[in-house]
Amino acid sequence: MKHLPVLLKETIQFLAPCPNENFIDATIGGGGHSLAILEKTKSKGKVLGIDWSLEAITELEQQKKNKLDISSRLILVADNFINIAAIAHKLNFKPIHGILFDLGLSTDILESKRGFSFKDNEPLDMRYNPKMTDLTASHILNTASEKEIYYILKNFGEEKYSYKIAKTIIFLRQKEPFTTTKQLKIAVIKATKQNFNIKILARVFQALRIVVNKELENLEKALDDSFNILAENGRIVVISYHSLEDRIVKNKFKQAKNFKILTKKPIIPKEEEIKNNPRSRSAKLRAIKK
Ligand SMILES: C[S@@+](CC[C@H](N)C(=O)[O-])C[C@H]1O[C@@H](n2cnc3c(N)ncnc32)[C@H](O)[C@@H]1O
Repeated sequence: MKHLPVLLKETIQFLAPCPNENFIDATIGGGGHSLAILEKTKSKGKVLGIDWSLEAITELEQQKKNKLDISSRLILVADNFINIAAIAHKLNFKPIHGILFDLGLSTDILESKRGFSFKDNEPLDMRYNPKMTDLTASHILNTASEKEIYYILKNFGEEKYSYKIAKTIIFLRQKEPFTTTKQLKIAVIKATKQNFNIKILARVFQALRIVVNKELENLEKALDDSFNILAENGRIVVISYHSLEDRIVKNKFKQAKNFKILTKKPIIPKEEEIKNNPRSRSAKLRAIKK
């Protein structure tokens, strides 16, 4: 299934791309937002698209070959956006008029069979890019102490059954190590005595995913660096999908000196968008201008 860009109209409104300007799409994914930016920045504006999913970058490299009008204006890099400043510097990509972070899970990642989706039975991996780290979700569940697992579920999933789930995981792993999403689902069901509660499962999977991929640390550092590399009058737009990310964005924006916050309250999708694209339902967009 193709990934539908979330809050596309609003993203373009706040990034306000003009002809011949340059933008960084730090989470280019399926390229939906970037294509709209490239349309507005014709005929010389460039987009530097970053994604740590090799699958996403390879797919876009393939697509851009057939599009003459964008092939020289879209530069693609497979990397962690924590390196945003170094990547822009190395490619001499400047001036930078805007930067976009769209932090959600792309359809490709959900369908990657690496344990991001709890619908099927998949290996408990959860690495966005297996080449970038050795740490997997199963390694955490099989080696962390009860206290550490509790801490992860509580802090990164904000899950009220964290204590019971951590205890159950420690008990079950003595019989058999955790290697599949099915085992984790069974542990959650046993601990909470609730059959397939999607909200609890989503929080548990989110917590592990955040830790495996160091998602919050990446975001904090990338935002700090984005403030520095942005040109005068440049804009940053961040779309986040859970409260931990949104809190970081809100606080970083507040602390950013000499910046103007463009969204007093976060922008959320309209009912119609949520109906067409249910994955957009938790999205919150914040924007800032230098
Ligand atoms: C919601 S998708 C982006 C969708 C995109 N805006 C579109 O319209 O198709 C989020 C993307 O961010 C990428 N991503 C998440 N964290 C990242 C990081 N630290 N560095 C680079 N890419 C990251 C994921 O691999 C995923 O492809």
